[in-house]
Amino acid sequence: MQSIPEAILDWTKLSSVQHKKMPELTNSQEKDIFPLSSQPLVKFIETRELSCQPQSDNTDTRTWILTQSFYHYFNELSTLETKLICNANAGIISDSYTVKFDRGFKQIASTIIIDEGFHSFCSLDAVRQVETKTGIKPIKLRKKNHAEAIFSTCRKMIEHQYWNDFTLVAASILEAILAKDLDLCLRARNRVENGNTNEFFYALQENHLNDEARHSCFALLTLESFWSNISEDERSNLLPAIHKFVELYSNFASFGDAEFNNQIIRGLGFDDKVAKEAMVFHAEYKRHDAKQLHTSMLNLLNQTKVFTAGAVV
Ligand SMILES: [Fe+2]
Ligand SMILES: [Fe+2]
Repeated sequence: MQSIPEAILDWTKLSSVQHKKMPELTNSQEKDIFPLSSQPLVKFIETRELSCQPQSDNTDTRTWILTQSFYHYFNELSTLETKLICNANAGIISDSYTVKFDRGFKQIASTIIIDEGFHSFCSLDAVRQVETKTGIKPIKLRKKNHAEAIFSTCRKMIEHQYWNDFTLVAASILEAILAKDLDLCLRARNRVENGNTNEFFYALQENHLNDEARHSCFALLTLESFWSNISEDERSNLLPAIHKFVELYSNFASFGDAEFNNQIIRGLGFDDKVAKEAMVFHAEYKRHDAKQLHTSMLNLLNQTKVFTAGAVV
């Protein structure tokens, strides 16, 4: 594993914010803006031969679903990275946690805030570019960010004095998930159903993974240092919430954002029965990816000794 000075040097040499061009959408009309394998609802509707038409926007079903999924994915990403990851790293810099970190950690935490701010900017800009070029309006979403909702649910299980520390733990797990999710997404590029995906999407994901691989290493170092320096009382307080976080995030990986998918299904004029069938289809289609994400969380928690031998969710 890299030392802290090596990681700082890497950032100055490799970070996207300093070295990568922002992707530009040039051929919005020609290809799928979001990979079919990342949104199983299209396949669900096609395999069931369901006939439908979006109730808004003058476009075909496939384009409408994939464009809405693109908006949803990048809007969620932007919030997750700023509200959860940047916030957690700000806590390292400002000595907000039970465990205090040295200057090297604080410098890397600063680089991550810069990176995530840039990722948020690129995500929002990607949404702007697609909306401008396609004219397809994003549907209104009702609930808060999915990661934030999972985080809030789990944090309620902890004594109030440890709430702040849970921010650091949750952000470390999210960094591992994000790096794995981007990796899976790019590996799926060669799948037959993704043959028609717009390169714009992959350019965004490649730039992002370039940074997230480094972030996940730092998350591991941070969590390891944090966990080995907190009291037994705090560990036993945090552990049930960490198990719950892994469980809820694994469900999310299987079923996707159920509320968003329901809005899509309803926007196409379908009822509850079809929505339920779509959820089952989604979980089955995503089984392999969900297992991989689950394993990446367990790997992090085992490597950092948060989960001891045998303590598997
Ligand atoms: Fe990021
Ligand atoms: Fe990150």
